[in-house]
Amino acid sequence: MKVLGIESSCDETGVALYDTERGLLGHAVHTQVAMHEAYGGVVPELASRDHIRRLIPLLERVLAEAACTRRDIDAIAYTAGPGLAGALLVGASFAEALAMALGIPALPVHHLEGHLLSPLLADDAPVFPFIALLVSGGHTQLMRVTRVGDYQLLGESLDDAAGEAFDKTAKLLGLGYPGGPALAKLAETGNIDPKTSRYKLPRPMLHSGDLSFSFSGLKTAVLTAARARELTDADRADLAAEFQEAVTEVLAAKAVAACRQHRLSSLVVAGGVGANRRLRQRLDRAMAKIGGRVFYPALELCTDNGAMIAFAGSQRLLQGDVPAATKGAFAVRPRWPLDRLN
Ligand code: KG4
Ligand code: ZN
Repeated sequence: MKVLGIESSCDETGVALYDTERGLLGHAVHTQVAMHEAYGGVVPELASRDHIRRLIPLLERVLAEAACTRRDIDAIAYTAGPGLAGALLVGASFAEALAMALGIPALPVHHLEGHLLSPLLADDAPVFPFIALLVSGGHTQLMRVTRVGDYQLLGESLDDAAGEAFDKTAKLLGLGYPGGPALAKLAETGNIDPKTSRYKLPRPMLHSGDLSFSFSGLKTAVLTAARARELTDADRADLAAEFQEAVTEVLAAKAVAACRQHRLSSLVVAGGVGANRRLRQRLDRAMAKIGGRVFYPALELCTDNGAMIAFAGSQRLLQGDVPAATKGAFAVRPRWPLDRLN
């Protein structure tokens, strides 16, 4: 069965073709980062218009790469939420219209379910059940994943998501948009030796005894440090490094705590912040200590893409989930909790 995946929830247009027998046949992503850069963040209306421009060329590219035609597609999975309403509507209407024209089913998919299952696309995939740490621009969540479609929320951020905290702090340090990767790069040159580091930031909720997170205070702490005096380049690198230490220490500690509480030895990490090297280092070490292992999606599948949507859709179809006949009527869900999938 060949499933086409369409992702358009934010500032990346992703299209992919996944074959349940042969794996990923083709995938292509267009990122709008350069277009939104001038505004310091995503402009929803521009995002929607750009998705419209990109979808058909991306589809042609993926079909060529897969050596397939439209007639070879058996079903279309698309991101129905959460995300920007207009951007979601572009992908949803494209997918629904194409499915109707081809006489095949269209399947709405939850964006975070896509991220969550993306490590299963790797050759060395985890087996159920496992704990998942979802760290993206909009979400920081720990989930227990029992099987496809069965997700129990264990804890989440009470305010900013980890990626959002990275982006906002990067902006404070003058690193532009999207700041996460730039901040991480700068952090690698900073001093993280607790004995000699000039900055000490809080580790929010590290000892809260639950699996909740809070990251908005960190950004304020960085702002206070930045206002205290004119920052040199070395100061900025040290602040970035200490910020990254604080976020990754809390994320790693809580992810391991979730694994211990549920007596599970597999941890899956998904979402854009999962690309962070320091986070990976800490998680690998901490999980090894309890005899566990961490599974990551391929780096290119950490950020938004169509492959994870095609894959999540295919797993639902294999499981016998029959998409409702929409007769051309469909909806998107800009807000959509993952533990309320159906
Ligand atoms: O999953 P994603 O592509 O989009 C959402 O669904 O939100 O995640 C994007 C987020 C952004 O906040 C970005 O700054 C962050 O992931 N990010 C990183 C790194 N790469 C991407 N944050 C820290 N370190 C990185 N290396
Ligand atoms: Zn995402």
